[in-house]
Amino acid sequence: MLKIGVAGLGFAGMLHAKAAAACAWQAHGPDIRLAAVADPRGEVTAGLARRHPDLRSFEDGIALARDAEVDAVVVAVPNAQHAAVACAALEAGKPVLIEKPLAAQWDDARAIANAAARGGVPVSAGYVFLNSPAVAWAIQTVRAGDLGVPLHIALTHAEDYAAVQGPAHGEWRADPAQAGFGALGDLGAHALSLGLALCGPVRRVSALMGRVPGRTSATDDHASALIAFAGGAQGTVTASRVARGRKMHLGFELHATGGSLLFDHERPNEIRVCRSGDDGFATHLIGPGHPHYAGFLPAAGHGLGFADLFTIQMRLWAESLLGGAPFAADLGFAMSVEALLHDLARAAGSGGWVDTDQRGSAA
Ligand SMILES: NC(=O)c1ccc[n+]([C@@H]2O[C@H](COP(=O)([O-])OP(=O)(O)OC[C@H]3O[C@@H](n4cnc5c(N)ncnc54)[C@H](O)[C@@H]3O)[C@@H](O)[C@H]2O)c1
Repeated sequence: MLKIGVAGLGFAGMLHAKAAAACAWQAHGPDIRLAAVADPRGEVTAGLARRHPDLRSFEDGIALARDAEVDAVVVAVPNAQHAAVACAALEAGKPVLIEKPLAAQWDDARAIANAAARGGVPVSAGYVFLNSPAVAWAIQTVRAGDLGVPLHIALTHAEDYAAVQGPAHGEWRADPAQAGFGALGDLGAHALSLGLALCGPVRRVSALMGRVPGRTSATDDHASALIAFAGGAQGTVTASRVARGRKMHLGFELHATGGSLLFDHERPNEIRVCRSGDDGFATHLIGPGHPHYAGFLPAAGHGLGFADLFTIQMRLWAESLLGGAPFAADLGFAMSVEALLHDLARAAGSGGWVDTDQRGSAA
């Protein structure tokens, strides 16, 4: 039995907590239990503790990480606090699943990597969309070479939360000290995770970052990038939190020598495919033939949602800790995304290209 602790019970943390509970109701789910939660907002932890008397609750993620009743820790606190909670867990020998981005600052990401190396404890990262059945199928298909060689990918993560809800959907996202980057780290990180998974390592980048004039937020509202993959493909990245009308437009359009793929998480249960010889795109609804779907439903086309991706992620993470297949978004993958975020920011600052093999110690 693996006892899971969740630090931070905001937007992401509640999804992780419910995912741990949901795994217990999957027919062949891993042997896990939601054992503890932490959040300084007492009204949230008190409400849960009342309904779940066995649940341990803490005001701070570090205390949860050190609790002897917790075996593995989900870190879903604001970005600047990831490192303190993660390092406390790693120093206690406990594996962590850290929300993206790994940290607000590069030095904090390095501190997490060093703590993991010292203790020999696995770090996993919350690139949850990699677990979408449609996305996971696309990754498998492209990596198997079924569509030939990737030529171009357009990666986008656009939402309008900062245009609609005020500064930045939670004040901490507007503060560089708390968040690190704005739209780039919050949304661009997801887009980059799909790019790396589909097209492999990146060789060089150029980028623009910007803020909407007159807004109080000190972090970027949108970012655009050109990326050259080491394997020869080229790509574009768009991240925006002020894209009016867009709610969850995390998507990609991939062109390869033997076909093309189109995915948009605003329509998460379908993927569009055109293979060479086809006259255009065909739309495929996801079903038990796509990765991870059968754990939820026996029938195709009934659909999974965003919260289900957290259950899939929790299951895969727990299974990896219980001796199953390695978790895909491991520390190396997370550090690659992290380094790319800093490469893009450096490119935007310099106005030129940044070679990813010349990062040096400052990412
Ligand atoms: N994977 C995704 O799709 C996704 C979605 C949303 C957020 N996130 C990530 O999750 C993290 C949290 O974002 P959010 O949107 O949930 O933020 P949020 O502001 O909604 O929630 C953060 C929670 O952490 C609590 N907290 C603050 N300090 C704490 C501490 N020391 N110990 C315990 N709890 C503490 C806050 O009280 C709050 O409830 C960020 O890293 C963010 O990038 C990921």
